[in-house]
Amino acid sequence: MKIIIESNEYSSHKDLSEKDQDLISFAIKHLNTSHSPYSNFKVGAAVRLQNGKIWGGSNQENSSFPVGICAERVAISTASSQSPGISISSIAIVYSDHENNHNSPLAPCGMCRQAIREQTLIQKSPIKLILTTLHGQTMVISDADDLLPLSFTLKN
Ligand code: THU
Repeated sequence: MKIIIESNEYSSHKDLSEKDQDLISFAIKHLNTSHSPYSNFKVGAAVRLQNGKIWGGSNQENSSFPVGICAERVAISTASSQSPGISISSIAIVYSDHENNHNSPLAPCGMCRQAIREQTLIQKSPIKLILTTLHGQTMVISDADDLLPLSFTLKN
């Protein structure tokens, strides 16, 4: 078996569509709502629904570390609880740390990939991932499921 992940890379947000730039701006805005006193690593996420609605989220940490939750899962859970039954078409993810001199986009953690995978199974349509940085370097993956091949699902 050979697993191939396809992505498109950009060096500036301006190279993306206006819709995608708006979603990125929403994710960047949500960095301000991050509660991350333990890692000092802020993550912002924004999901665009098929009806055009956008929901955001940020990482929420806890003094009992495992209680913390990633930005992606906050945003997805907000969308599915506030706009139930509406498919997600894309998710933008951005981060900021002490130095903010990073050039590579954040790849979602394994738990978030599993959460996104469950969402694509529910909605039966792919979710585009826009992984970006404050400086503009961006990676777009047209089907988030590509990041979790051979996943565990209800079928298993
Ligand atoms: N984090 C996210 O919010 N999303 C990810 O995909 C990876 C990590 C958060 C969790 C924690 O609050 C901080 O980043 C450092 O791991």
